[in-house]
Amino acid sequence: MFYIGVDLGTSAVKLLLMDSDGKIVNIVSKEYPLYFPHPGWSEQKPEDWYEQTMIGIKELIRDVDKSQVAGISFGGQMHGLVILDEKDQVIRPAILWNDGRTTEETEYLNTVIGKEKLSEYTANIAFAGFTAPKILWVKNKEPENFARIAKIMLPKDYIAYKLTGVHCTDVSDASGMLLFDVKNRKWSQEMCDICGISVDQLAKCYESYETVGAVLPQVAEELGIGASVKVAAGAGDNAAAAVGTGTVGDNMCNISLGTSGTIFISSKNFGVDKYNALHSFAHADGSYHLMGCMLSAASCNKWWMDDIIGTKDYAGEQQAIEKLGENHVYFLPYLMGERSPHNNPNARAVFLGMSMDTARSDMTQAVLEGVAFALRDSLEVAKSLGIELTRTKICGGGAKSPLWKKIIANVLNLKVDVLESEEGPAMGGAMLAAVACGEYGSVEEIAAKVVKVVETVEPEDDLVAKYEERYAQFKEIYPACKPLF
Ligand code: XUL
Repeated sequence: MFYIGVDLGTSAVKLLLMDSDGKIVNIVSKEYPLYFPHPGWSEQKPEDWYEQTMIGIKELIRDVDKSQVAGISFGGQMHGLVILDEKDQVIRPAILWNDGRTTEETEYLNTVIGKEKLSEYTANIAFAGFTAPKILWVKNKEPENFARIAKIMLPKDYIAYKLTGVHCTDVSDASGMLLFDVKNRKWSQEMCDICGISVDQLAKCYESYETVGAVLPQVAEELGIGASVKVAAGAGDNAAAAVGTGTVGDNMCNISLGTSGTIFISSKNFGVDKYNALHSFAHADGSYHLMGCMLSAASCNKWWMDDIIGTKDYAGEQQAIEKLGENHVYFLPYLMGERSPHNNPNARAVFLGMSMDTARSDMTQAVLEGVAFALRDSLEVAKSLGIELTRTKICGGGAKSPLWKKIIANVLNLKVDVLESEEGPAMGGAMLAAVACGEYGSVEEIAAKVVKVVETVEPEDDLVAKYEERYAQFKEIYPACKPLF
């Protein structure tokens, strides 16, 4: 049988076709526009997501026996607010995870409602990119749109709805809305009251590996697949990536170097850190996880390469980088503000420490190192909770760079396990579909069977020591710059 994983990302939708043994048969990627209507705002059109997903699926399965397609599921960009009216029409463009417009609403939730209450109701505090502050923003700034809301959805759930006609979501993605009681895996009535919405306006919440329905007859016809093809709820992209990299069960770690950068730690037990610096979310394997999320990771390198230096030859640029741990240039990677651990939508990127002999390669190196240092900030919070890690998996576009993996291994002092493919969320989506269809008994079972480590990047003592000193410097820069942001 074949399973389709849909990774609904920020720059593109990635479609992956996996067979019953977990072998990747085909991968297709389709881009769509990202709009920045004001500085710090970030929007996309749900209609574009669906259109490109359908085009992509057709291409994905063009050369295989379509009657063998059994299931579809997702990893989706998290937190985005999609609002539908009574006729299930999209009311306004989706407000994305890296949108910073909700400073006032986030402040209101964290100070007037109070972090303690938020943490009690949801296991999390408000961050500008989370969904609840966006609902309050629409209520405050676009009351006419707010009055029309019949359903509130997350990005991937809009695709599931278009495929099946079912309004659904899953526990991992719901966790990032600040409307979900993570510990008890159910919607929080208190948070709905605070946001002025009813639980009925939210979608039905499933475990990630559960089936929500079959494809609609017109969808089956358009794609040329059987009408019994099942759609599973899927997961937020980070939980899906964790599934795709085998980061399931207890105390496993995955780093994702995509548009965002995340460090994801799986846990059998529910837990929250004292300052809610890390997100405490439900996992797609039926358990929980902690996660630090930086808003710009591989996107920092993309910005530096494409927009500033003006090259597509990322590997070529990195070849000139020779001396690790000795760079005097630092980069704060806060191009879209920062989430973990600073929670500051107004933070901005900074280059520091250039001199007349600074070369372009030093600045490229600083960008790669700045992202690694910022991930280390979240790792430090995890360590302060007594979490001990010695290794991590890695995925996302940035994981293609051997140099970046080496920098991460040494800055974080973790062994980095490299997998056969870095397609975390799309692979995880396909794996969740296979579990929903009964091909495997559980998420842990399929992960143990299909995820293969092909190489491990080991930290080196001398580099770890050098980076320890650099990190001590890096940590001083944000507090010094903060008053200027
Ligand atoms: C996680 C987060 C990002 C998006 C990116 O909290 O906001 O990783 O999911 O797609």
